[in-house]
Amino acid sequence: MKLQTIHLNVNDQMHTVTVRTGDTLLYTIREKLGLTGAKPGCLNRDCGACTINVDGWPMKSCLMMAVEGPGKQITTIEGLKNTQIQQAFVEHFAFQCGYCTPGFIMNCHSLILKKPDADDPMIKEWLESNICRCTSYSEIEKAIKSALAKNKHHSN
Ligand code: FES
Ligand code: FES
Repeated sequence: MKLQTIHLNVNDQMHTVTVRTGDTLLYTIREKLGLTGAKPGCLNRDCGACTINVDGWPMKSCLMMAVEGPGKQITTIEGLKNTQIQQAFVEHFAFQCGYCTPGFIMNCHSLILKKPDADDPMIKEWLESNICRCTSYSEIEKAIKSALAKNKHHSN
């Protein structure tokens, strides 16, 4: 398979990596950059455990090729530090085993960035792209609602 050297902006740091054309972004950030927060689950766009942000939007990194990454701003859970959404997940006990949690947090982070006025139906629809097998979705919804409310309060 053809090898290509590419430059990726991940968490505001430039990385030079050599990848195969068929390498997914998920594989590349985990195995080449050592950023293991994004998790492999279904590898088939169903579970959302691999969710990262690309230019602020949620992206299932098992679906995106690494060679599509240059020129984009990529954020992984390791790039979020002390955000309200992380705090809200802790405060609302919105996880148990934690395997799905980085993906949920990245998805919720995008919602706050892109749809800060999201109402309940939009929140429910937005969260449909991620699957949790062991905690209650109501805690996750409470966490995102509280982070959205705090975000609104700070931006007013
Ligand atoms: S591993 Fe990417 S959606 Fe499940
Ligand atoms: S907390 Fe275990 S899968 Fe979500």
